[in-house]
This record gives sequence, structure tokens and C-alpha cells, in this order.
Amino acid sequence: MSAAPVRLDIDGVAVEVPAGASVAAAVALAAPHFRRSRSGQPRAPLCGMGVCFECRVRIDGVEHQRSCLVPAREGMRVACDD
Ligand code: FES
Repeated sequence: MSAAPVRLDIDGVAVEVPAGASVAAAVALAAPHFRRSRSGQPRAPLCGMGVCFECRVRIDGVEHQRSCLVPAREGMRVACDD
């Protein structure tokens, strides 16, 4: 038996991912990039294990969350480009 998928909002886009998927996986489905560097370059996950900080997004109003470490939950609101 598999768990029900979860639905979250990524920059205003509804995304559905399997239960247990990371927020990074959800963002990869919906957004062109995770954030921009200080010089404006688009950034995306590199390590996938919480070391590089390249996957930072705002989750439910809390900035600089490493999306590769956070499991997606129903109703989460995620914003990129912080
Ligand atoms: S991908 Fe490196 S910290 Fe998330």
C-alpha cells in the first residue's frame, strides 16, 4: 500500500509529489530555478544532502530552508528566489 501524494504550492503553482519526497523534488518539477546568487545567476541543488546550501527556498514564510532536507507536506507554501 502506498501513501497518498501530498500537494504543495511552489511560487503559486500547485504541485503533487509522492509522500516522503523532498521539497527540492517538488521545486524541481515546478520552478525554473531555486534561487539566484548575488550576481543573479540561477542556482539549483548540488549535493542533495544539506551541505552546499544551493537549494535554499522560503517555506511557509521561513527563509533559507534547505529544500533537499525538508520532506514535502500537504499545504506547504514554497517560494524561490530569496
Ligand atoms: S542540495 Fe546541497 S544543501 Fe540542498
